[in-house]
Amino acid sequence: MKKNINNISKIPPYQKEYYSWLYESKILSKLIDRDWLLNLITFGTHKKLINICTEEVYPQQKTLQVGVTFGSQLARIAERLGVYGEFDIVDVSATQIRRIRKKYRFLYPSMNFINRDAVNRTENRYNTIICYKLLHEMPLATRTKLINTLLSTMSPGGKVVFIDYNKPAWWNPLRIFIQLYNRLYQPFSESLWDKEIKDFTTAKGQFEWKKSTYFGKMYQKVVVRRKETLY
Ligand SMILES: C[S@@+](CC[C@H](N)C(=O)[O-])C[C@H]1O[C@@H](n2cnc3c(N)ncnc32)[C@H](O)[C@@H]1O
Repeated sequence: MKKNINNISKIPPYQKEYYSWLYESKILSKLIDRDWLLNLITFGTHKKLINICTEEVYPQQKTLQVGVTFGSQLARIAERLGVYGEFDIVDVSATQIRRIRKKYRFLYPSMNFINRDAVNRTENRYNTIICYKLLHEMPLATRTKLINTLLSTMSPGGKVVFIDYNKPAWWNPLRIFIQLYNRLYQPFSESLWDKEIKDFTTAKGQFEWKKSTYFGKMYQKVVVRRKETLY
């Protein structure tokens, strides 16, 4: 098994402009990398989102996660996969890949740390592909490319799991705060309010899309499987 691949990948413009202050900062990344803090700043949603993500993964599967996360989300997936699982973690930021490699390389031998842009296609095929809170950070064209790439990366019988923001219900008391935050800091996030994830692909008819929402519709989980062909 190939381990610790370390190409130098170019940070995309959307990330440089809006998110590099966090993802390229070792100090801030270390500071925020705590479950209790993440629970606090996400109004307690962090823990639940990790749970609904982990339940999609089964022992021994070959799994891909697009984008490093903070807190214990990656560890929970690795624990669920067990020692016979294979867990590729892909991130465009070498800083994040180094951080996560340092944190987990001796704890979870199933983890492979890969520095590359996930929008680009790969030969590898996976039972489960996780895209956790990444789509809302991407402009529409990149988001479309990524979704299409991930759909083509499933192994037969495999699935892609998207966990991300959704349009909160009108009565959700946090709706106004999120809207304000989006307008100030997350310019691409609200396009996920107006358009379903499946509508970013022209091939949506070839797949089954199962959507669930959480926390007054503030978050969504979409599980995508390829439809079985009749011939
Ligand atoms: C998973 S997302 C959101 C993480 C979120 N803040 C959390 O912990 O819940 C952030 C990660 O995605 C990575 N990323 C952004 N665009 C990417 C791309 N095109 N390919 C691979 N990784 C990407 C960023 O470098 C960053 O480490």
